[in-house]
Amino acid sequence: MHTSPNDRVKLGATDIEISPLGIGTWAWGDKIMWGYGAGGFTDADLRQAFDATLAAGVNWFDTAEIYGFGRSETLVGRFVAESGADVKIATKFMPLPWRLRPDALLKALRASLDRLGLPTVDLYQTHFPFPPLSVETWMGAMADAVDAGLIRAVGVSNYSMEQMGRAFNALDARGIPLASNQVHYSLLHRAPERDGVLQLCRDLDITLIAYSPLEMGLLTGKYTPENPPPGGRKLRYRQEYLERIQPLLALMREIGAGRGSKSAAQIALNWTICKGTVPIPGAKNARHAASNAGALGWRLTDDEVAALDAASAQLEA
Ligand SMILES: NC(=O)c1ccc[n+]([C@@H]2O[C@H](COP(=O)([O-])OP(=O)(O)OC[C@H]3O[C@@H](n4cnc5c(N)ncnc54)[C@H](OP(=O)(O)O)[C@@H]3O)[C@@H](O)[C@H]2O)c1
Repeated sequence: MHTSPNDRVKLGATDIEISPLGIGTWAWGDKIMWGYGAGGFTDADLRQAFDATLAAGVNWFDTAEIYGFGRSETLVGRFVAESGADVKIATKFMPLPWRLRPDALLKALRASLDRLGLPTVDLYQTHFPFPPLSVETWMGAMADAVDAGLIRAVGVSNYSMEQMGRAFNALDARGIPLASNQVHYSLLHRAPERDGVLQLCRDLDITLIAYSPLEMGLLTGKYTPENPPPGGRKLRYRQEYLERIQPLLALMREIGAGRGSKSAAQIALNWTICKGTVPIPGAKNARHAASNAGALGWRLTDDEVAALDAASAQLEA
């Protein structure tokens, strides 16, 4: 089956219809990791990324209260209001160590809605399964937010198979499906295939939202040992690692050339879609957004997926 940018898939077992790829907005307002601001990329670049996303048929954005300390939500909200576009918005609640009561979630949610300028958010996700409050406690607060009409669907992020099962059961007791688990998944990070998360998502009709599907830019092929990524990424992905992944990138380019000039990034994103997940590549400008949407409308063959699986098998980031 082929996907096109105008295709829609259901978010888990909800009636929310999303494009098979969304856009991630961690970088929108983030100076430390991504270099937002003068000398890097600006609000004008991000507005163009927003417009290019919609023009390409992609209808949803992933943000979080902590991205840019609220700046990402503010920018997304501003662009939604200015464009008047009908888009779906996913955001996230961070269980910070001083948030020790379940009503902290409703308070944080109201602050997110204020920044977004929206009465309701389509998907609200717990960002991490941090203690001390239990999975069940936070899911109870999520269910209250659904009942209050403040969110349409509930998701989690960075949850293990066991934590995801507990979240599913807690919500199920309130008659609400667990819509999604957002986890790190890329050709260079395939843990969800081994740790049971991908399989449980399939079994329970939970959408696996794949974050960092381009491995923070590495799978675009633009970074090499001679041209490492800037900032914090340079420490995370060492020169030796950049060398080791070059054969995989060469294969991706070869497959892309055989597919009518698909880029390495488009191959990386299409691979995550072939695995039954929904990727959310980050975009800093219109070029990124339009190019990443080019991962839709076609599909790698089973043989190509198998070749990419084999080439990436020993390359875990
Ligand atoms: N739930 C969580 O804990 C969690 C964690 C991480 C991310 N996320 C979500 O997942 C989203 C995506 O992950 P990510 O931002 O970490 O990494 P990513 O999507 O793997 O990579 C994004 C970066 O790659 C570069 N890039 C993107 N498209 C490109 C293109 N077509 N051509 C050339 N370069 C391109 C850009 O950075 P440069 O140009 O600077 O290289 C961009 O910021 C985030 O925005 C966020 O919404 C969630």
